[in-house]
Amino acid sequence: MFDKEAYEKRVKWFTEARFGMFIHWGLYAIPARGEWIRSTERISIEDYEPYFEEFDPVDYDPKKWAKLAKQAGMKYAVLTAKHHDGFCLFDSQLTEYKSTNTKCGRDLVREYLEAFRAEGLKVGLYYSLLDWHHPDYPKYNDWNHPMRQNPAYADEKIDFDRYLDYMHGQVRELCTNYGKLDILWFDFSYGEMKGEMWRGSELVKMVRSYQPDIIMDNRLEGGGDAFGSLVTDSPSDFCGDFVSPEQIVPPNGIRRQDGTPVVWEACVTMNNSWGYTQRDKNYKPAPMLIKKLVECVSKGGNLLINVGPDARGNIPEESVNILESVAVWMKRNSASIYGCGLSDLEKPDYGRITASADGKKIYYHVMEPQIGFVPLHGVKKEEIKKIRLLADGSELKIADSWIITSYPDLVFVSFGDSPLLPDPCDTVIEVELK
Ligand code: GLC
Repeated sequence: MFDKEAYEKRVKWFTEARFGMFIHWGLYAIPARGEWIRSTERISIEDYEPYFEEFDPVDYDPKKWAKLAKQAGMKYAVLTAKHHDGFCLFDSQLTEYKSTNTKCGRDLVREYLEAFRAEGLKVGLYYSLLDWHHPDYPKYNDWNHPMRQNPAYADEKIDFDRYLDYMHGQVRELCTNYGKLDILWFDFSYGEMKGEMWRGSELVKMVRSYQPDIIMDNRLEGGGDAFGSLVTDSPSDFCGDFVSPEQIVPPNGIRRQDGTPVVWEACVTMNNSWGYTQRDKNYKPAPMLIKKLVECVSKGGNLLINVGPDARGNIPEESVNILESVAVWMKRNSASIYGCGLSDLEKPDYGRITASADGKKIYYHVMEPQIGFVPLHGVKKEEIKKIRLLADGSELKIADSWIITSYPDLVFVSFGDSPLLPDPCDTVIEVELK
């Protein structure tokens, strides 16, 4: 039975945080052609083994990662504890295929959790439901497995339940050996591989028994394209707590079938790759990511921006530089992000609107310079307590000019004599209501 009150209590911090760091890291950082390389290049376990033998991230310092995330204004992070290749970044007792058995000999998850908690960030772990290393995971007829349609596996006998025992056992390890976790980010379901095929009800019940306040994504039911039963009037036991649109900002946000808003988080790469991809230099510029964060919040959602550290354990310089630029804007304007969400006011043609949860503060995000005055749609003069330029707290007086005589019901402000915006990316006006 879906407990609405418990749900809303559980997701409160998440919907206030709005902004997080996704971290895709593992053996695939060495070939540096993305985290799906075993599948896309049909690489056998044997041919992938050299990366396990070689993995030694000598520069790994999660404290640096945590400081970068915090400085950028991110309030939480999610690290891949195990991706589809089955390599565990944590000291699992259920496998030898783990970071503590590589040259580095380190429990990378434990160090990440400690470092990010120390910076005051909430901590999450991504855990792949798929496992291309485990002998009992389906191969020949699977849609994604590196050995799919390989005749050598056509008659292979596997015990999928034995894999599920392993998968549940590892999730239990993560939920019991690493302190309080705030997010468990499963990935992903496809075809028949969903829901109870993962023994989903049992898995979620077990997770909640150890981590009662944890929130989970919706991918026990689907992939980055699916909303799942969370948006229906009959959510399943494994519907998760938020919808996880991938590489898209939902055009109209995401709502339940009854029209009420649902918790969602868009996950987006900074270039076009989740795992480190050396040749992928297609980075999104900081102003674009700032505007996408504002767009997500204006539609009632979160943004999880991904970094893919390299084989040495460094976040790519391009990503660092972009996040340092995002930090400058967030330092001045984060009040329009944290604890904010969608407003009923109509989206202005020059940008977007975010609003505080109590509706008492409305943030007009001006992303396109206006000729002369800036209209503040949807608010009346008599409702307004004060108007401020959020970045520096300076007063913006309601404009009074012959130019706007024909718009008596519209409130206008001016940024002064320059035709340009004070902040060319997004100049935020804070309107506090009485
Ligand atoms: C897709 C990718 C997977 C990545 C995930 C992040 O499922 O296949 O590699 O971890 O998106 O949302």
